[in-house]
Amino acid sequence: MASAAAPAFRQSSLDSSSGGPAALNSPKPVSVKELLDSSTNSSTAIPTNYNTSSFLNEPAASEPDEQESIPVIDFGLLTSPDPNQRSQAVQELTKACEEWGFFLLVNHGVPENLMKETVEACDRFLNQTMEEKLKFAGRDVWEPIRFGTSIDIKVAANCFLWRDFLKLFVHPHFNAPTKPEGLSEVLQEYSKRTRQVVQELLRGISEGLGMERGFIEKAMNFESGFQLFAANLYPPCPQPELAMGIPAHADHGLLTILIQNGVDGLQIQHKGKWFSVKPIPNSLVVNTADQLDIFTNGKYKSIMHRAVVNSKSARMSIAVAHGPSLDTEVSPSPELMEKEGRPAVFKPMKYKEYMELQQTKPTPGVPCSELIRIRTP
Ligand code: OGA
Ligand code: NI
Repeated sequence: MASAAAPAFRQSSLDSSSGGPAALNSPKPVSVKELLDSSTNSSTAIPTNYNTSSFLNEPAASEPDEQESIPVIDFGLLTSPDPNQRSQAVQELTKACEEWGFFLLVNHGVPENLMKETVEACDRFLNQTMEEKLKFAGRDVWEPIRFGTSIDIKVAANCFLWRDFLKLFVHPHFNAPTKPEGLSEVLQEYSKRTRQVVQELLRGISEGLGMERGFIEKAMNFESGFQLFAANLYPPCPQPELAMGIPAHADHGLLTILIQNGVDGLQIQHKGKWFSVKPIPNSLVVNTADQLDIFTNGKYKSIMHRAVVNSKSARMSIAVAHGPSLDTEVSPSPELMEKEGRPAVFKPMKYKEYMELQQTKPTPGVPCSELIRIRTP
């Protein structure tokens, strides 16, 4: 069977007239996983409301050439007691932030087992019964534990994304479901470890900006910083070229740390082109996000990225966003502006308000920071 005219999915609760899967409060909420589980056989066509290709209009990725591979940063050198090694690592980190906004972090000290257990625990959560998951269904971005599917895309009310997710607020207060057993403990430890890594990276980034080590941490009140844990499940998709896991977007925090289950799907924009990220096994994928862009007055740009889907294997990614404290008003740093003699390119905004804006008014392809931009750097 190969005809798109004969979709093998039962439309039942999934067709747009019932509110669709984005409307988790509707009487028949669903997820992409349940959509697949309810399909009558190995289907060859996706429901039309998962076909995002006509309005997202996102270009395909190209292969990076040899010189254009995503930078690799050695965390061991960054934390080395040898000042020469450290300053070399700071330089490389600075270059990666300036030129890419994305890098792979190796020797980061987060145990391999913990990374694996984190992915597996989230996989177990997202593979529970719908009834169990729906205990955490909610549309409000301030729910500390939220299971959901798709996201609202402003440009098309009834068009959905090929993604189910679990989002948790893990700092300053840790939240997690109590089931499945063991999930909470594993996620708490992973969240703590990634936070320590981010703290060191912010110190290196501060030094690279010519400031003292605690410069960003202090200005952003990182000690009570907001940390958002997101587990994304992208089930195999019969028509991956038509569907999208997460469309082009920039992240809202300072730095995001991502791991995955060995299945690729992250793509990043670099010099106007899209590149597929193929992480080194056990590395952490790190990207600079909007608050760092704003604080550095556009020096370290928040890079657009997206998650594409594939027809063969389920993909699971864990993206942890590390931000300032929610009540911090983030503006271009006066010290940096003075140092570099550049006027502010962004308006100040409280991180809490910014997050609300980013989570509720996403426009595919347009970074949220455009809404507070005064001028180009
Ligand atoms: C995100 C994200 C990419 C991925 O969750 O913000 O960009 O590869 N995820 O899942
Ligand atoms: Ni992202």
